[in-house]
Amino acid sequence: MTACVASVAAVPASADVPLYKRAGAPAEQRAEDLLKRMTLHEKIGQMGQVAVTRIQGDCEWSGGALNETCMKTVLGDYAAGSILSGGGMPPASNTPKAWAELVNAVQKYAVENSRLHIPVLYGVDAVHGHNNVLGATVFPHQIGMGATWDPGTVEDSAAATARAVAATGIDWNFSPVADLSRDQRWGRYYETYSEDPLLAGTLAASTVKGTEQANGAKEVAASVKHFAGYSEPFNGHDRAPADVSMRYLQDTLLPPYKQAIQAGAKTVMVNSGAVNGVPATASTYLLTKVLRDQWGFKGVAVSDWEDVRALQTRYKIAADYPEAIALAVNAGVDMAMEPYFAKDWSEGLKAAVDRGLVSERRINQSVKRILALKFELGLFENPYVDPAKADAAVLGTDKDLARKAATESQVLLRNEGGTLPLSASAKKIVVAGSYADDINNQVGGWTIGWQGVPAGVKIPGTTVLKGIQEAAGAGTQVVHAKTADEAVAQAADADVTVVVVGEKAGAEGPADNPRPELTADQQALVKSLKQTGKPVVTVVLAGRPLVLGDAADTQALLMSWLPGSEGGHAVADVLFGKANPGGRLPVSWPKALGNDPLYYQQLPGTNGGPESQYHALYPFGAGLSYTSYSFDGITLDKPSVRAGDKVNLQVKVSNTGSRDGDLVVPVYVSRPTSDVLAPSRKLVAFTKVHLKAGEQQTVRLTVRPNVLAVTPGDIDGAGTQRVERGAYTFTAGEKTAGLTVR
Ligand code: BGC
Ligand code: BGC
Repeated sequence: MTACVASVAAVPASADVPLYKRAGAPAEQRAEDLLKRMTLHEKIGQMGQVAVTRIQGDCEWSGGALNETCMKTVLGDYAAGSILSGGGMPPASNTPKAWAELVNAVQKYAVENSRLHIPVLYGVDAVHGHNNVLGATVFPHQIGMGATWDPGTVEDSAAATARAVAATGIDWNFSPVADLSRDQRWGRYYETYSEDPLLAGTLAASTVKGTEQANGAKEVAASVKHFAGYSEPFNGHDRAPADVSMRYLQDTLLPPYKQAIQAGAKTVMVNSGAVNGVPATASTYLLTKVLRDQWGFKGVAVSDWEDVRALQTRYKIAADYPEAIALAVNAGVDMAMEPYFAKDWSEGLKAAVDRGLVSERRINQSVKRILALKFELGLFENPYVDPAKADAAVLGTDKDLARKAATESQVLLRNEGGTLPLSASAKKIVVAGSYADDINNQVGGWTIGWQGVPAGVKIPGTTVLKGIQEAAGAGTQVVHAKTADEAVAQAADADVTVVVVGEKAGAEGPADNPRPELTADQQALVKSLKQTGKPVVTVVLAGRPLVLGDAADTQALLMSWLPGSEGGHAVADVLFGKANPGGRLPVSWPKALGNDPLYYQQLPGTNGGPESQYHALYPFGAGLSYTSYSFDGITLDKPSVRAGDKVNLQVKVSNTGSRDGDLVVPVYVSRPTSDVLAPSRKLVAFTKVHLKAGEQQTVRLTVRPNVLAVTPGDIDGAGTQRVERGAYTFTAGEKTAGLTVR
C-alpha cells in the first residue's frame, strides 16, 4: 500500500492529466486528444452555431434573460459548440457588464454541463467598434476606414474593438469584410473597404492583425468574410447569384481574402451567394481547393446565416436537410451558422452520416479545427471574464482613436474659391438638412440593431451639428435650421450654409438601393440654398457615393461616410481647418444613375458610348487638401526584373503649400500591350506620409509579384496566375518609370 502510494506520488502529476487538459501542450495535440474521447453526437454539436436568442426569453426571438430550459436543449442535449449574437441580440439590459455576465453564464452552462467540459465559441459582428453594445464607441464603417488609406489606423481601431469585445467575454469577431465595393446599388457596399483589391486586402489584413493581437482581457479570433465573390451579385441585390469569369475571380476577387487570411486569420466566413452556378457554401473548389490546398488555411470555416439549410430551401440543390448538410460539410464547411435549430442540425448531420453521405473522418477534421481554435484562444483555461471590469473597458473608450479614424476618413472633393476651411471670423453659420443632428443615421447599420439603432434608442455620440457648435468660435453664431424654408430664410444674412445630406441606416438586402442618389427633397433643399447666393458646403453622411444631382456643384463637398459616434467632431475639425483633410476615395463616384457597377479598373473596350466609359464624377483616389502637393519623380531600383521578383521603387513627393498634411501616395501599373485584357491602370502599392509645409520626402515602396500576376490563356482561363513578361509602366502622380519583366 505504502509503496503504491509512494510510486503514484513519484510520477509527475501531469502524467495523470489527460493531454487535452494540459495548458502547455500544443493546441493541435490537445484537440486530437479531446476528439478521441468524444461521441459522434458531441462532435456534431461542436459543428453547430446557434443564435443566443434561442436560449433567451421565449427561446424564439424575444430576447431577455437566459432561459435555463432552452440552454439545456441547445447546449446540453444538442451540445452546440458556438453561440452568436448577430446584428443586435443583446442581454436583457444592454450594458457591457450585462454582456459579460450573459457570455459568462452561457460559457458556464457549457463548461459545467457538457460531459467533457467544453467551452463555447461566442461570436459577434463588431464591425465598427463593439457596435451592439449600448455606450460603446462607434467607429466609422469599413468604407470610411478605406478612405483613410491608413493600415496603421485600421489596425489600431480593430485592436480597440477587440479589447472591447474581449472585455464582454466574447472571443470571435465576424470581421473583416474582404469583399469589394464595385456596385453602388448593393446594400453592403459600406461594409467593404474599397473597390480595389490591394487597398481592400491590405486593410482587411490590418484588421486581422489588430483583432488577433489586441492583448485584451482574452484572445479574439477574426473572421474574413464573405468568402468568396459575395460582392458581385449580378443585379446589385444582396445575395443574388454572381457570375464571374475564373480570370476575374482569380485576379481580382480572391486576392483581398487571401491577403487577409495570410495575415493569420483564424477563421473564414463563407459567402451566402452562389458563384458561377454553385453556392459558395457547397463549393469544394473554394472551400477546399483554394482555401486549404492552395492557401494553406488551417483554421475554421463557418457558414453564414442559415446557409447550409439554404442549399435545400433557397438554392434547391439538395432534396432535404441531411443532403444539404452533406454538400456543405464535404465541400469544407466546418461549422454551420444554424441560428434557429440546434436539434435540426444535430439530427440532420447524424442522418447524413447514417446514410453514408458524410464520413466520421470528415467530421473529425472539422471538430479538430474547432477544438484547436478553442485551445488556441485559451478558452479551456480562461472561459470567463470579470464582468466588474466590462463597463470601464467599453463605455466611451478609445474615443480619441475613433475621432482620429473618422477625421482621416474625411474626403474633401470640392472646395471652390477656398470656401473651406471656414473662416474663424464668420459671424453666422447655418446648419441645415435632416442628417445634421441625427446620430442614428450617422452611425449606420449594424449598430445596436441589425438595421441600425432601433426606434426609441438613442446612442451617445456627436452629430455634425454638435461638432460644429462646439468647434465654432465665440464670435460665430451657429443656427440650426430645421426646415427647408427656415434654412433659406436664415441663409440670407449668413456667411455660409453647411447642409448635411445622407441616406438612412440599413443593412444587407433592406439596404439595397436600385437608385443610389440623393433623394429629391434633399436635392431640392440644396438647390434652394444655392439660390440664396451664399456659399453652400455639402456634407454627405452615407455608406456609398450617391448621385448628387443638384447638390453636385455647391462650393464645397465633403464625403464623411458613416463616421461613427465621433463623426461630428471629425467633420467640424475639417470644416474649421483644425484638421487638414487627407482622406482619398477608396471607390469611384458615379456622375449619373445607371452607371453601376462602376470602378476604375475597367477593361479596354469599355467605351460603347459616353455612359459606359469610366463616367466618374470623382475618380478612385480623389481627394483635396488645404495644402498642395507635387509628385516629383518615380524611380525603380532596377530597370528590369525576372518574373516573380519584387519590384522596389522610390517616389519623391513634396508639400508645396503652407500647411502640414498627410499625403496618400498610390502607385499604379499599366501595360502598353498584354496577352489578356488588363485595366488601363491598377493600384500596385501605396503608402501615406506626413509632410510638413514645404517638405520633400522620398518614400520607398515595394510591389509584390502576386499583385502583377494575371491568369493567362483563353476565355476558359483557370490556369495558374503568372507575371507576364514584357513592358510595364509605373505611375505616381504624373510621373512614370518603365520596367521590363524578363
Ligand atoms: C451576415 C454576416 C454576419 C452574420 C451574423 C449574416 O446575415 O451576412 O455578415 O456575420 O449574419 O450576424
Ligand atoms: C442577420 C442577423 C440579424 C438577423 C435578424 C440576419 O439575416 O444576418 O445578423 O440579427 O437577420 O433577424
